[in-house]
Amino acid sequence: MIRAFQKWLFPASCWLEHLGIFLTRDFRQLSQPAPRWTSYLRTMTCDMYTPGSAKLNNGAEVPLLGLGCYDPANPDSIGEAILVAAHHGYLHYDTAKFYENERVVGQALRKSGIPRDKIFLTTKLWNTDHHDVEAAFDESLEKLDLEYIDMYLMHWPQATMPDQRFKSDDSIDYIKTWKAMEQLLKTRAGKVKGIGVSNFSVKTLTELLKHAEIVPAMNQIETHPYNQDRDLVRLCQEKGIVVTAYSPLGMALSPMPEDRDIVSVAQATGVTPEQIILSWNVQRHVVVIPKSLNPVHIEQNMKMVKLNEEQTQRIDAIANDPERRCRRFCPAYDPQTDTVAGWTYEQLGWEKP
Ligand SMILES: NC(=O)c1ccc[n+]([C@@H]2O[C@H](COP(=O)([O-])OP(=O)(O)OC[C@H]3O[C@@H](n4cnc5c(N)ncnc54)[C@H](OP(=O)(O)O)[C@@H]3O)[C@@H](O)[C@H]2O)c1
Repeated sequence: MIRAFQKWLFPASCWLEHLGIFLTRDFRQLSQPAPRWTSYLRTMTCDMYTPGSAKLNNGAEVPLLGLGCYDPANPDSIGEAILVAAHHGYLHYDTAKFYENERVVGQALRKSGIPRDKIFLTTKLWNTDHHDVEAAFDESLEKLDLEYIDMYLMHWPQATMPDQRFKSDDSIDYIKTWKAMEQLLKTRAGKVKGIGVSNFSVKTLTELLKHAEIVPAMNQIETHPYNQDRDLVRLCQEKGIVVTAYSPLGMALSPMPEDRDIVSVAQATGVTPEQIILSWNVQRHVVVIPKSLNPVHIEQNMKMVKLNEEQTQRIDAIANDPERRCRRFCPAYDPQTDTVAGWTYEQLGWEKP
């Protein structure tokens, strides 16, 4: 309860402090560490590091830490969070047509002053657009207005009917959609740098790979200590597909930050449970994109800690506990139809909790 309150509590003094920074800081110097960063590091009880990047199969680099930009309650609120994140040196931002804030994300990134070629920007094809990939891509690019998109992901393998989020549109399959996305690299050359998928499982990815001319550069999935998805992560990494963890903290009110094993490792290392959760994923070369509107959290989430073998094993072992091993927090599940955006767990190739 207290943690839930802390999560929602918005430290106004902190916002004011950051507002001061916006007014005075030259964002063109974002490659330099933020001034307060070094002094913060000195107070740490363990070695902290800022995560680097992973190489994609198109030759580009993706920063292992990005800012998630999905805020269903207030899609535009992410604009200010982007400016805070940019100040601290975040270079990777994750949005989607579905988040209804591509315009705001684009505006904030232009305002941040980060040179375009330093930004890694992801957006996604929504489920109702599988029939017209080019038009959907053009619309996203027009809203973002950032010259090009670094990573364009198929948001879900299943298409859904317009205005019926939980009814699948089986008149098109993800292989056809992927072929259209492959075409984008030709028809929109220079406007899209890489293509990938999201919410693909071992089952759907294996099927896709049988037909793909271009191997997806990325698979964005919900993965964290409570849903480790090791077989899928292994498959992706064997195929050179970078895994990005969405909802890496399990969204607001997740029980993970109170988990006995995660808390114990956090206490031993002197950082927060959230930092342990993110560090664990980064240590297995998975990109994390936590969303935060809170400047303190945005800064904290950049500071990873190296877990030793025993600490890593302790978190890995959560996967052996049936109570904790298969928990998804992303709310796309519809209890009425027992589907996730129109598909059963079996169709998705997801393990049932
Ligand atoms: N591909 C997909 O289907 C898919 C689905 C869902 C999400 N995503 C992407 O993944 C991103 C992240 O996922 P998410 O937004 O669902 O959830 P999340 O990042 O796991 O969790 C966000 C919650 O954690 C809190 N938080 C963040 N850092 C914290 C810290 N250091 N300490 C304590 N609390 C902290 C935030 O609150 P504060 O704001 O108070 O910090 C917020 O309530 C999304 O924004 C979106 O870009 C993709």
